[in-house]
Amino acid sequence: MLFLQIPLLAVLLVAGDNEDAFQEEISFKMTYSSSFYNRSWVKIRHSAWVGDLQTHGWDSNSRTVTFLRPWSKGKLSKIEIKELVEFHRVFSVEMPNQFHRHANQWQLKYPFEIQITGGCELHPGEGKAVFLKVAYQGSELLHFQNKSWLPSVKDEITAQPMCRRLNQYHVANRLVQRLIGYSCPRFLLSILDTGKADLQREVKPEAWLSTGPNPGPDRQMLVCHVSGFHPKPIWVKWMQEWYLANADGTWYLQVFLEVEATETSGLYCRVRHSSLGGQDIILYLEHHRSSRGWIIVAVMVPLVLLTALAFGLWKRWSH
Ligand SMILES: *[C@@H]1O[C@H](CO)[C@@H](O)[C@H](O)[C@H]1NC(C)=O
Ligand SMILES: *[C@@H]1O[C@H](CO)[C@@H](O)[C@H](O)[C@H]1NC(C)=O
Repeated sequence: MLFLQIPLLAVLLVAGDNEDAFQEEISFKMTYSSSFYNRSWVKIRHSAWVGDLQTHGWDSNSRTVTFLRPWSKGKLSKIEIKELVEFHRVFSVEMPNQFHRHANQWQLKYPFEIQITGGCELHPGEGKAVFLKVAYQGSELLHFQNKSWLPSVKDEITAQPMCRRLNQYHVANRLVQRLIGYSCPRFLLSILDTGKADLQREVKPEAWLSTGPNPGPDRQMLVCHVSGFHPKPIWVKWMQEWYLANADGTWYLQVFLEVEATETSGLYCRVRHSSLGGQDIILYLEHHRSSRGWIIVAVMVPLVLLTALAFGLWKRWSH
């Protein structure tokens, strides 16, 4: 039964009174990853996320939910929080028990990995979507839709029997439907409100260029670094992207470009981000070299002209 009440973690009969907190699609996603090493050993990692930002974690020693942000409780009451923490404590024992108990019947082979992902998405305007799925060894096995579990793969051995069993719990499935379809979106709205300052903060990126290790003879690796920005969506002019999270919840991105060593002139890295208000950052790779070039031109051109003039005058006089 408990296994079926996964989203109860969102135990949320919270009044979502803020309907205008977001302009983009946003989701609340809970993930449960369990590594089953053998019949008596399982390692569990739970986490919950609003968009890209982790809001909840799991302390496996004390078997308790950790609230990672001051606003991670949304507008849950003290009693609701206690229920949520208690639910997870029980869930973290019962859910593995279910899998251990049915491992033979469902032909789960130790060691195996089970991931359960559930949550809801809100779209600007009225739209919302819910999702709840179970994966075995990294591949989706079943999903929950319209009050029942459906196999996600054609599989008579594991997915079908698992669904048949879970679909016997009509009452629990109606509860699951209500929790992901009703409570989750309301909790998301409430946490979007309590976490507004963090979730919607705009932090301007810093950008700098460097050269990376030489990829080969006559080749050069150029790196455009963009760091400290929030939110995550960003547009940068050249190539493969590497997002890394900074400790303060902002993002860091390196953009690599491999070019012929002779083809670097005129290259620039251009950064566009919502926090910059239309003022793109533009970094020229050869800024110093080209400005030195202009100084030379600025000095040389008048010199040549003066020399030509002097030569012309001297010729006229000498005639
Ligand atoms: C189960 O796996 C754990 C971790 O690998 C190991 O320490 C333990 O001895 C195993 N137990 C059995 C009964 O195999
Ligand atoms: C959900 O199931 C009900 C009956 O159980 C059916 O009337 C309805 O059309 C279904 N909705 C979807 C989206 O499949």
